[in-house]
Amino acid sequence: MSGVELCGVALRGPVLNGSGTFDVIAARRAFGDALLERFPFDAFVSKTITLEPREGNPPPRLWETAAGMINSIGLPNKGLDGFLAGDLPQLAELPVPLVVSVMGFTRDELARLASAVGQRDEVAMLELNVSCPNVETGLIMGADPAETALAVERVRPDTAKPLIVKLTPNATDPGAVAAAAEEAGADAVSLVNTLKGMALNPETGEPWLGGLTGGLSGPAIRAIALEQVAAVASRVDIPVVGMGGIASGRHAADFLAAGASAVAVGTENFRDPAAGRRIATELAGLSLSGRAGATA
Ligand SMILES: Cc1cc2nc3c(=O)[nH]c(=O)nc-3n(C[C@H](O)[C@H](O)[C@H](O)COP(=O)(O)O)c2cc1C
Repeated sequence: MSGVELCGVALRGPVLNGSGTFDVIAARRAFGDALLERFPFDAFVSKTITLEPREGNPPPRLWETAAGMINSIGLPNKGLDGFLAGDLPQLAELPVPLVVSVMGFTRDELARLASAVGQRDEVAMLELNVSCPNVETGLIMGADPAETALAVERVRPDTAKPLIVKLTPNATDPGAVAAAAEEAGADAVSLVNTLKGMALNPETGEPWLGGLTGGLSGPAIRAIALEQVAAVASRVDIPVVGMGGIASGRHAADFLAAGASAVAVGTENFRDPAAGRRIATELAGLSLSGRAGATA
């Protein structure tokens, strides 16, 4: 598949990474400039940053399931200032447009992040990760259409950059949340984030993960993600970025056929750091044989 446009930004193809699933700075250290020459994705999405630095959750942080994994990483990051000073200059060297993922515990925090990050020329788009509790209301922002609308309305005037709202699958009606985001000014939606899950220590019966519960990702969630992408795509006119268990070009083609304009690869990157490029190549092969779903 050749060039794609997402929110007015030209991409060479439709394969992004899922936020937090590819440490591009570590990969560059390991693979050097070869990583840039054969970059796995058509746009790069940063891991989610918060206003203040975060240590993340106590270990253990991962549990492997039969067809995926549960993570309870807890968004460790350097905070806004650390990101702008330390990571952004390195991310700006990537050969593809940069999407920065931000999360706030209040709407004001989210707006401050969006405003500061959105001012930077190196940043092509923002992704709002709304899968976190609003400490003012106790509600998960992205689980509720009205909360989501308030968050997007608060952020919208503070940046001219395209806003992608990343939806959580842990919502009663993701289509209604997507429609609320669109109405409030989102330029695109992406989905799915991880599904809430838990694992027990087989010896003690206590929760295995330091964060007690975590997020399930990988092949185990693909059928759920595909259904949610189809449901959301039928409710909104803005582009949809589909993800959840994508591990092959055929999976990517399914998400495009379900109505996504682009796809993102997450957990598969841990198994195969070159998965993005492989999936893009497989998808292009399917396009030639007429089985790549809708073109973006
Ligand atoms: C280890 C790990 C870390 C993640 N970190 C983030 C994050 O920082 N921000 C975010 O929006 N999503 C995060 N995600 C969710 C992924 O971006 C993606 O939405 C989800 O894993 C579903 O796609 P997949 O099944 O292909 O992994 C993370 C997922 C994993 C497995």
